[in-house]
Amino acid sequence: MRSALDQVDTPVRIARLIAEQLIDVDSGRVFDPTVGEGSLLLAVQEVHGNGALEYVGADIDRHRVARLRERQPQWIVSEANALDPKSRSQSRAWRAVQTSCEAVVFNPPFSFRGNGGVRLELGGVQRTLSPATAYVALSLDVAKPARQMIGILPAGSFANKRDLEFWEWIERQRSLEVLRSLPRGTFPGVSASSLLIRIGGVNSGAGRLPPNRTAPPLQPNECVCVDVIRGRVQVHRHQELETLVHTRNLGADLDSVRRGSLDPRAVEGRVTLLPRVGKPDVRKVQIASGRMLLSDCVFALRALDRNVADRLHELLLESFAHLASGYAGTGAPHLTLQRLEVILRFLGFEPRQAGPSDMMSECSCGSQDRTSAA
Ligand SMILES: C[S@@+](CC[C@H](N)C(=O)[O-])C[C@H]1O[C@@H](n2cnc3c(N)ncnc32)[C@H](O)[C@@H]1O
Repeated sequence: MRSALDQVDTPVRIARLIAEQLIDVDSGRVFDPTVGEGSLLLAVQEVHGNGALEYVGADIDRHRVARLRERQPQWIVSEANALDPKSRSQSRAWRAVQTSCEAVVFNPPFSFRGNGGVRLELGGVQRTLSPATAYVALSLDVAKPARQMIGILPAGSFANKRDLEFWEWIERQRSLEVLRSLPRGTFPGVSASSLLIRIGGVNSGAGRLPPNRTAPPLQPNECVCVDVIRGRVQVHRHQELETLVHTRNLGADLDSVRRGSLDPRAVEGRVTLLPRVGKPDVRKVQIASGRMLLSDCVFALRALDRNVADRLHELLLESFAHLASGYAGTGAPHLTLQRLEVILRFLGFEPRQAGPSDMMSECSCGSQDRTSAA
């Protein structure tokens, strides 16, 4: 049963962390669409409970529902399959949150047996989403009044091609933040790493970037083209190691690398360097200038404009949890070009692949058109 329904309940420490991210909840309904044993709602009660909150939960497993009802007779708890419209419409919990809901908390099942995706109609458009994203999408669609949703999604959710369009659509209407990456092992017996995310209310104003950012936002007329350059040099084939930027040089040791390499594979300009392979480490996301030879374990990101280059670096640091979520793989974690491009687009940039020796080509993001239209 545990494996079929992903019944991995949220540990108390993480449930509390989720509850603490809710802002200004003192009255109204808090909903968990896959409530399980109620760990998330219990944490909300502990952190914010003052008698004025109403707790609403649904779960497909009738035994879990029966147990929770017995333990929490004041809560609205229903047996319902979140993915089945009929089951939702017959459930008191799902009906209750349609009209009034303050916040949604979630840790949905991550896996799905069957055709590998969940088909839904959202905003008049048919979409096929990965399972965890589908639970979030449905909750957003049904519990429309909710001003905030906080919960857990699998790492890489935003880098998933299937869900990308959906997240971009959400981002246009609400704020979306990755609050933290949770490493493997956070959930007992689960090898996947995950993300703690917050979706703000409609027009909550936070836009696409984390609210605590210090850099001014990108201006509509700024060129947001970013060359994504993958290093080409294999470390074990290279003789002069002192001229090569490898992952181990990123962070503290970059100054020890000799610049000005005459190798035609060297990259030139002001670039943000980051590891392609290895454990995500914020200290290794680094800005550098000069002519450098990059190992094939390193990416360089280059913008046309120096300010945009600095902004890009700053945003990657501020959204590091998001960047870290792109590192995946069964062996050594690595970031694919495709995942990096998805993350850059999410941050508002226009990535394009380039070779190390390519000069930065002309703007292709339409900044000129945007300026004349403004
Ligand atoms: C990962 S657990 C999380 C439970 C709880 N939200 C928590 O954080 O502790 C996922 C829950 O989803 C329930 N579930 C699985 N498939 C479901 C579905 N289609 N509709 C509703 N609940 C489902 C499982 O029974 C399980 O209780």
